[in-house]
Amino acid sequence: MMRPLTKLNKEEYTDIDNAWTIPAQYYTDESIFESEKEKIFANSWVCVAHSSEVKEKNSYITREIIGENLIVVRGRDNILRGFYNVCPHRGHQLLSGDSGKAKNVITCPYHSWAFKLDGELVHANNCDNVENFDKDLSSLVSFHVQEFAGFIFINLSETPKPIEDQLVGLEDKVFEACTVVKDLKLAARFVSETPANWKTIVDNYIECYHCPTNHVSFAESVDVGDYEHSLHHNWTLQVGKAKPSESSYKFDESIVDPRFSGFWIWPCTMFNMPPGGDYMTVIYEFPMSAGKTLQYYDIYFLNEELTEDQKRLVEWYKDVFRPEDLRLVESVQKGLSSRGYRGRGRIMTDKQRSGISEHGVAHFHQILVQQHLD
Ligand code: FES
Ligand SMILES: [Fe+2]
Repeated sequence: MMRPLTKLNKEEYTDIDNAWTIPAQYYTDESIFESEKEKIFANSWVCVAHSSEVKEKNSYITREIIGENLIVVRGRDNILRGFYNVCPHRGHQLLSGDSGKAKNVITCPYHSWAFKLDGELVHANNCDNVENFDKDLSSLVSFHVQEFAGFIFINLSETPKPIEDQLVGLEDKVFEACTVVKDLKLAARFVSETPANWKTIVDNYIECYHCPTNHVSFAESVDVGDYEHSLHHNWTLQVGKAKPSESSYKFDESIVDPRFSGFWIWPCTMFNMPPGGDYMTVIYEFPMSAGKTLQYYDIYFLNEELTEDQKRLVEWYKDVFRPEDLRLVESVQKGLSSRGYRGRGRIMTDKQRSGISEHGVAHFHQILVQQHLD
């Protein structure tokens, strides 16, 4: 059922203790998604990978986000650069695959124009015989890339503000929660085209109200009764006291003060540091449309050959923990477009900011409202 679009009123979102979600249409309407492409995704630093994926010279990754195919490549000069994965000639895609090692030139598969890893055109067949051919106007189109907190962030704006201004204080907290972030390597990736809006997925991550009933084995290890969720500038941090469990996180009993840390990072990345502190899982969201989000669920360990315990853990993420959340967000997305949904939901914040309080959701929605109104 099409309803007229509800206008946002900033005043309605200032009080975290009397908060409602933003209107359901903001999760389902394609015109809202189109405006988010510009207001949010083309103007924010977005995390796309761990630094280890582009550590070597000539290594590259490609990512597809808001309909743009992007390349991040490390040049022979060791500099990391970002280019649209689009040939300046007639627009063919240049590199394929999620990641790989580029030759010293990138050659377009269509008419074989060749580009250095700094984007400069080095060869275009027959260009000497073409009148007014402008080599400079035929280089690759770049965007900003930066390594931050051990990860790769991209920004499609021509004049981005510094990443430190978007994510004030984040880097130190990430290094504190996982001291080995920079040494981690990708061990497993689960890819899903999730039939849910990117914000539905963030909403689900940013509260543990759903944990006791939906993540039974997680809740056996991480105590939701002893759980803190702190709100920061464009990010939040959930910290839970943990104990070893046979059904989820096994770790050495000798670890002092074991915790689970979960970061939500604007706009749509989540870092998880499970108890033990020597590995991570990351949820990357790459929005495709109002109702569809490509997700990478990446697991990083220090070692490349996985132990039996690590293999078991990867299976637990794949078969148990991950599907638990996917089912939730899919169902919510469907409900948000129902004529039987009142159009907004009460955000269940409590004054004590307990482990099951939804103040994280209210914080996220305040930021969303600000971005939509700007
Ligand atoms: S489209 Fe790439 S060389 Fe023609
Ligand atoms: Fe969950």
